[in-house]
Amino acid sequence: MENTTHFGFKDVATEDKQGLVRGVFDSVASKYDLMNDVLSFGAHRLWKRYTVASSNVKTGDKVLDIAGGTGDLAIEFRKKAGESGKVILSDINAAMLAEGRRNLTNKGVFGVEFIQLNAENLPFESNSFDCVSIAFGLRNVTDKDQALREMHRILKPGGCLLVLEFSKTDNELLSQAYDFYSFNIMPKLGGIIADDEESYQYLAESIRQHPDQETLKNMVLDAGFSFCEYHNLTGGIVALHKGIKA
Ligand SMILES: C[S@@+](CC[C@H](N)C(=O)[O-])C[C@H]1O[C@@H](n2cnc3c(N)ncnc32)[C@H](O)[C@@H]1O
Repeated sequence: MENTTHFGFKDVATEDKQGLVRGVFDSVASKYDLMNDVLSFGAHRLWKRYTVASSNVKTGDKVLDIAGGTGDLAIEFRKKAGESGKVILSDINAAMLAEGRRNLTNKGVFGVEFIQLNAENLPFESNSFDCVSIAFGLRNVTDKDQALREMHRILKPGGCLLVLEFSKTDNELLSQAYDFYSFNIMPKLGGIIADDEESYQYLAESIRQHPDQETLKNMVLDAGFSFCEYHNLTGGIVALHKGIKA
């Protein structure tokens, strides 16, 4: 790994990024769901629904949601995998996992397991999951290639990887409007609603630093997946990459 990496638009020592990201999510955890609804005008719910609908998860399957936060994907996977399946909601951040636990309990969703872990080092046996997902999490991970290799390792042959993440729109007008919104409005709303302008400035910057659709597709293939395709959502502002392990 390099000695420095991105934290938003800043270059920071590689070993410092994880702690800085933790600070962001410690700070936003209690207002995370509200902010998601406000900032995306509710669209994140459609993107996530599309993600779970695109998975091949069926009754009895074993699913790991990484960087699962407040558990939106885990709730939907639980419905698909059913009582005989197993769904694990994992995240590196204890505050986000606590919000996830609260959210699932409030919604009457039981039977999901919670594990605190780093995406770069998954404490599971090889070839043990039918589906692994990560939504809006990969851009926060310091060593994304290592995380993708780990996801590949723990998937069963034929298993499916789902990476939902902000991406790049090639529509010039949409891109300009989105830039204006991200850098002028999003941090201000973060300041007003969550009393944390700085974290929402980081979130806007981290989106711009994340690899575009084709680059991420190549990273998925380089991690060992035999197949990867992506589908743009909302004009490419978000993309869903789907990888299959041979
Ligand atoms: C933007 S939130 C996404 C939460 C949820 N997946 C969603 O879509 O609403 C990003 C999450 O990634 C988690 N995260 C950051 N770095 C991580 C890492 N290295 N391993 C696992 N989770 C990580 C954060 O704690 C945070 O909960």
